[in-house]
Order: sequence, then C-alpha cells, then structure tokens
Amino acid sequence: LARVAVIIVAAGSGTRLAAGAPKAFVPLGPRTILEHALEGVLAAAPSQVILVVPAGREAEVSAMAGDGPVQIVPGGDTRQHSVAAGLSLLADGIDAVLVHDAARALTPPAQFGAVATAVRPGVGVIPALPVVDTLKRVHGEDVVAPVDRAELAAAQTPQGFPRAELVAAYARAADEGVEYTDDAALFAAAGGVVRHVLGSEEAFKITTPHDLERARMILSSSAQ
Ligand code: C5P
Repeated sequence: LARVAVIIVAAGSGTRLAAGAPKAFVPLGPRTILEHALEGVLAAAPSQVILVVPAGREAEVSAMAGDGPVQIVPGGDTRQHSVAAGLSLLADGIDAVLVHDAARALTPPAQFGAVATAVRPGVGVIPALPVVDTLKRVHGEDVVAPVDRAELAAAQTPQGFPRAELVAAYARAADEGVEYTDDAALFAAAGGVVRHVLGSEEAFKITTPHDLERARMILSSSAQ
C-alpha cells in the first residue's frame, strides 16, 4: 500500500476483558493480541506503521516489532488522544492514513487494501457489516420502539482517510475539546464525507472474555 500509513492503537487498558494486563499484551496462544494485529498489518505492506502503546511499554514493543517499518509512540488517556499521538509521527509522502484497533487482531490483510483504495480527497472509508440482531430503542427497562436495522451498519477498523484532512479534523477536535465515537465521526464533524465497504466477521473487536475465547478458538482451529 504505497503512501499509506497504518496507525495501530494499542494503548487501552482492557478493563472489560479483565485479563489482568493491558489488552494488547494478552496472549491468544504463543503470541499476543498486538503481535497478531501487527502481523496482519505488515501483510498488507503499508509504507509506514505506527504503534501506539501504553506509556512505559515502548522498549518491550520495540523488541517485539524487530526491524520492520514500525515506529512506536506512547498513547493517551482516551483512544482519540492515542490516535493524535500516532498522527504526530506521520512520515513525509504519506497520502492516506488507516487507523486500526489492535483489539481487532484477526482482521484479514485484504481489509486494509479494500479501505485504502477507496479513500479519496474529502472522503473517508470504514469497513462495516450489516446488523443481524433485531434492535430496540430502550429507556430504562422499557422497550420504547423498534429500530429498522436496514438503516444500520456495525463499524469496524481500519478506518481510512486522506492524510491532511484527517490531521486537520484532529486539530479541530482538540481545539473544541470534543471526544468523538470513532475516527469516522470526528472526520464527518469536520465536514468530511464517509463511505463504507464490506467488513468481515474476522475483524471483530476483542472486548469481553467471550471475545478472547472466540479469537483463541479461531487461531487454534486454523493451526490444525
Ligand atoms: O476500549 P476499546 O476496545 O474501544 O479500544 C479500542 C482500541 O483503542 C483498542 O485497540 C485500544 O487499545 C485502543 N485505545 C488506545 N488508547 C486509549 C484507549 C483505547 O490506544 N486510551
């Protein structure tokens, strides 16, 4: 992926995972969530990879990452601050930036290419899946209304954007002091258009202990 940088955010604490370590350092087998995420990104061959890690874990991650085109920077107290830290390291010549959650450790390498090739000036791109559950709007214990799932999609990462416009959108969000749901929402708030391409089941985000079990099962069945 020429002139494309991937920022992998891996600085979260992983409280909901309750695995006793920052999420990116939790093992899925012989290797950690972060190692799997990095392997998938490197297979997509971007020009630059920036790993945003918990402060104090830089040397350990650097030893793990080896000599590849990988740079490491400590993250912040929110995901948005962590992405901003990653943006500060973008190299000259990068035209498009993909922001990816380390927690989506089993994302197929082809998903990076599908997103990157759809990025245009003024247009960001997210992978998304149709919603399969029947959805309800609730208020406390009351079910208030059905929600038409045909209008909804579940957003994944990597989310891709034109470099200069994403950097400008982040500067604007920092000035406003607003925290957005994801990079696409932040980009849209600055006037960008966001489109979606089809995501993949394997790109699920490892969030709960059940997700961790699912990731381990997928890896152990693919190893046989
Ligand atoms: O907490 P959640 O699962 O939504 O986090 C999504 C991604 O953002 C994870 O890969 C996590 O490591 C990263 N993150 C971060 N810095 C934070 C919070 C989350 O890099 N302060």
